[in-house]
Amino acid sequence: MRRRLIPVNVVIAALVFVLLSLDPDQSKPPPVVMERGKAVYAKECLSCHQQDGLGVQGMNPPLAKTAWVLGPKRELIKIVLNGLTEPIEIEGDTFHNPMPPHPHLTDQQIADVLSYVRNSFGNKASAVTAREVKKVRAEKKI
Ligand code: HEC
Repeated sequence: MRRRLIPVNVVIAALVFVLLSLDPDQSKPPPVVMERGKAVYAKECLSCHQQDGLGVQGMNPPLAKTAWVLGPKRELIKIVLNGLTEPIEIEGDTFHNPMPPHPHLTDQQIADVLSYVRNSFGNKASAVTAREVKKVRAEKKI
């Protein structure tokens, strides 16, 4: 062969591009979001829901694979903004303690902490954006 039609480095670049676009982990939030979310979690949620997200039996519910954490984002955002007072049951364990509202957190902080929670403790779900939080917060005022 006198000359190569496609240079090797172009082939390698194309392969890397294809492999990256096939990444099954695409929906996972970028590390910077996970880091920010982790910091909000440590300050605002950890004391009740614990480091491992498993909560405290009979007092604070776990955040691992629950219907609220993995369910509709609107309901999840509402829990953080408004708190929760109605009793809930998770895998046979009932929780009556009220969760305090967190309206002091910014849209970005709520988006970050929920993206973190939805991708920690064994959870895997799409990230929450500041725009989505803004929408739910605005709804509340009507
Ligand atoms: C003072 C303790 C406390 C703090 C702080 C707190 N929670 Fe909760 N959380 C609770 C309790 C208690 C419940 C159950 C409320 C009920 O039964 O009505 C709950 C319920 C929940 C639920 C729904 C049930 C479940 O386990 O899936 C989610 C989601 C949740 N909290 C997320 C958070 C996030 C995110 C933060 C931080 C921004 C946070 N909580 C901060 C105590 C707390």
